[in-house]
Amino acid sequence: MQPPADTVWTSPLPGRRTAWFSNPDARSWRCEPPSRDVAAFHTGLSGYAPTPLVELPGLAAELGVGRLLVKDESSRFGLPAFKILGASWGVHRALTGHYGLPASATADDVRTAIGERRPVRLVTATDGNHGRAVARMARLYGLPAQVFVAAGVHPSACAAIEREGARVTVLDVPYDEAVRRAAAADGLLVQDMGWSGYEDVPRWICEGYTTMFTEIDERLGGPPDLVAFPVGVGSLAQAAVTHYRGGTGLQPTLLAVEPDAAASLLASLVAGRRTSVPPGRTIMAGLNCTTPSETAWPILRAGVDAAVAVSDADAGRAVRDLEELGVDAGPCGAASLAGLRAALPRLPRQGTVVLLSTEGREANPALT
Ligand SMILES: Cc1ncc(COP(=O)(O)O)c(C=O)c1O
Repeated sequence: MQPPADTVWTSPLPGRRTAWFSNPDARSWRCEPPSRDVAAFHTGLSGYAPTPLVELPGLAAELGVGRLLVKDESSRFGLPAFKILGASWGVHRALTGHYGLPASATADDVRTAIGERRPVRLVTATDGNHGRAVARMARLYGLPAQVFVAAGVHPSACAAIEREGARVTVLDVPYDEAVRRAAAADGLLVQDMGWSGYEDVPRWICEGYTTMFTEIDERLGGPPDLVAFPVGVGSLAQAAVTHYRGGTGLQPTLLAVEPDAAASLLASLVAGRRTSVPPGRTIMAGLNCTTPSETAWPILRAGVDAAVAVSDADAGRAVRDLEELGVDAGPCGAASLAGLRAALPRLPRQGTVVLLSTEGREANPALT
């Protein structure tokens, strides 16, 4: 079947034109569930509150789905994106390891160890939100942080990372290269993508993201029928897959949404192997990644039902539509709505649909 003309994406794979991928076996695939300790860790943090799950009945009717709800991550622990869910657990577990504390150590135990021993510098690469979240965690633990920022990040997002007290190095390189620079720097690397030999921290970051799905299921009394989420390196997507495919309950359709300028997961799923795409430009800065995380890839390959690519124009329209409905979504967050619109013609009629709106406009003011 041909994709709708307005979402056609030219694959870097010779002779393939597609904006769509689906895997009918994904729903029956099962994996290890993520650690359940993370929900208790988050609820114990100061300032914890579940983010809103906003019901939009008018948009549901317009799209022809039973119910449509938006998980609004425009304010999570006081930051304008969901990323602190992963950074908080990733930093906590990385620090317990660094200071030789048991996995059950509390945030206070970690602070005591830092006070008694040499403070360590936290290092990361980012296309915006992850870096700010790591910088915030460093500040909370009283640690220095160094953040390498990839090309295409809005200056106000860089300034926000600096305001957290981190040293920021803005690089004119794609995300993958920024990660390589961070990995070579001195300090404790807290990166949201994994590779062979660097697996624990990205796994903890993924576990951190699962709190969003736990909150959704609790609010709805069970899993929804479809969850749409934006994809950069794929760690959030990995969290969606491990949360749902690691459980025994209803299996939602998991829809991955990427910018057409950086659709490396879609390219990889189509190719059947992890594939890089050439660096591009997009207003969806947090999704501007050229290669899926190596550790996420086998899980995404097996457990994602469908993947779609959307244009900046689609994402911009979705930002404005959500704004009119009172939801503060930046371009990455609104990409979920743009992706749902592109995917619905190819899917059976959906009951309860949840869109992850992973950032507010403050996180990525590309359109303002
Ligand atoms: C707002 C936002 N949404 C979604 C994502 C995608 O997450 P991942 O890189 O884990 O795929 C990012 C990544 O930075 C982001 O900043």
